[in-house]
Amino acid sequence: MNSPALAPVCPAHVSVKNLSKTFKDRKRGEVKAVSDVSFEAQSGEIFGLLGVNGAGKTTAMRMLATMLYPSAGDAELCGHSIRKAPEQVRRNIGFMSTATSLYGRLTAREMVRYFGQLNGMDKKKIDTRIDELFTLFDMHDFADARCDKLSTGMKQKVSIVRTVLHDPPVMIFDEPTAGLDVLTSRTIIDFVRDCRDQGKCVLFSTHIMQEVEKLCDRVGVIHDGRLLACEDTATLKARSASGSVEDAFVAMVEEAS
Ligand SMILES: Nc1ncnc2c1ncn2[C@@H]1O[C@H](COP(=O)(O)OP(=O)(O)O)[C@@H](O)[C@H]1O
Ligand SMILES: [Mg+2]
Repeated sequence: MNSPALAPVCPAHVSVKNLSKTFKDRKRGEVKAVSDVSFEAQSGEIFGLLGVNGAGKTTAMRMLATMLYPSAGDAELCGHSIRKAPEQVRRNIGFMSTATSLYGRLTAREMVRYFGQLNGMDKKKIDTRIDELFTLFDMHDFADARCDKLSTGMKQKVSIVRTVLHDPPVMIFDEPTAGLDVLTSRTIIDFVRDCRDQGKCVLFSTHIMQEVEKLCDRVGVIHDGRLLACEDTATLKARSASGSVEDAFVAMVEEAS
C-alpha cells in the first residue's frame, strides 16, 4: 500500500446482501437487472459470476464498484458499505471492464500515471509500479504511443495496469477477455490468477464456461438477475453427469426459465 489512507481496514472480503437494481426503461418498463443477489467472497479466492448476455453481471459489478447506486440491498467491500462509504470502497478496489475507456490523446504511460495521481500515489511509486507492470504485461514497446493508436489487446493491457496500479486488495474484472486474442486473454487470465495468489479477493464475470473451469474457486450462476446457485466450482460440475460446467449451467438455466 502506498499511503496509510489507502490501507484496507480489514482483510480483503466482499459481502453482498440482497442486492437489487431495477431500471425504468421507456420501452421495456421496469427491468429487474439484478434481483436480491447475496454472496460472499474471501481473500485468496476467485469468485466467478457466470451468466449469459443480459443476465445482470455488469449491473451487479457496477454497483459493487460504486458506479451505480443499488435500488435495494447493500454490499460491504473490506468492511465498507457501497451505500454509506463509496469513497472508502473505491480506495480498496480495482474495477476493470471492456467498456473502460481511455483518453486517446494520452500515451499509455501518461494514462496510467494520471490514474495513479487520482488515486493519491506519489510520483516515484507510480513510476516504479509502471515499470514493474509494463514489464509484466510486455508493454514497454508501446508505452509512449498514444492510446488511440493502440490495438484492442494493447488498450486492454493499459486498462488493467490502470486499475491495479494502487495495488487494491479487491479486484473486480467484468468479462476482461471479451474480444481479445488467445495470447492476450491468456496474459490476463494468468494475471487474475496471480492476484488471487497474492491474497487479493477477486470477482470475475464471464459467459465462457472454460474460464470458470480454469480460474474460479467458487461460482455464482446468475440468470435474469437472480443468483441460481452459489457454490464451489467442483460442486457445480458435479451437478451434471458429464462433470462439465457447461452441462450443469445449461440444466440450471433451463429449469429456471
Ligand atoms: N441503463 C440501463 N437501462 C435499462 N436497462 C438496462 C440498463 N443497463 C442494463 N440494463 C438491462 O439490465 C439487464 C442486465 O444487463 P447487464 O447487467 O449488462 O447484463 P450482463 O452484463 O450480464 O450482460 C439487461 O436486460 C439490460 O438490458
Ligand atoms: Mg456485461
